[in-house]
Amino acid sequence: MDYSRISLRPFRPSDAEDFLACARDDKVTHYLRWNTITSREEALIYIQQVAIPHPWRQSICLDDRSIGYISIKPESGNDRHRAHVGYAIGSEYWGQGIVTTAMKMAIPIVFEKFPYLVRLEALVEEENLGSQKVLEKVGFVTEGFLRKYGFNKGEIRDMFIYSFLKTDKIAS
Ligand SMILES: CC(C)(COP(=O)(O)OP(=O)(O)OC[C@H]1O[C@@H](n2cnc3c(N)ncnc32)[C@H](O)[C@@H]1OP(=O)(O)O)[C@@H](O)C(=O)NCCC(=O)NCCS
Repeated sequence: MDYSRISLRPFRPSDAEDFLACARDDKVTHYLRWNTITSREEALIYIQQVAIPHPWRQSICLDDRSIGYISIKPESGNDRHRAHVGYAIGSEYWGQGIVTTAMKMAIPIVFEKFPYLVRLEALVEEENLGSQKVLEKVGFVTEGFLRKYGFNKGEIRDMFIYSFLKTDKIAS
């Protein structure tokens, strides 16, 4: 993989078809809190009503074509120092270092954009080994194992919690 092909940019309505290709795949949504979508209309609504208004949800692009997303959402009020991190890409692109690269690109951007932010955190299901590996390769620290923490697809799941502080170093 030539990592210079990877970029981050805001979503556009014209990404609907590409977003659908990723979001219609049950393998992609299995560990995500949202459900698989099946039509271009739903993809467009999602882009317009969720992705574009989001405080920082960027399209992960390969040669400027949307293949997934990375989102970093600061809490509000006195908790605005803390932000939740989420990400996904289409399954045909898995295992090539793309999300690891995208996360390493995103971190300095969000700490610059949200000056009060000091902590990124990610919750990952116990079985989601690929996601755990992304976070570890970027330099996130595992802080604990949260028993029966997250509700997803009808089940209460055990999850790992990871964090990355503004003062931490991105792994090389
Ligand atoms: C998890 C996900 C984001 C990883 O993206 P990716 O671009 O494939 O990640 P990377 O290639 O940067 O790194 C993944 C690493 O995990 C490894 N991996 C992937 N699946 C694995 C598995 N089931 N078991 C063990 N390792 C696995 C890969 O080999 C790679 O390691 P390597 O660099 O040593 O080869 C991607 O699989 C995805 O979009 N999944 C669906 C959505 C999701 O789960 N999002 C996260 C919710 S917390």
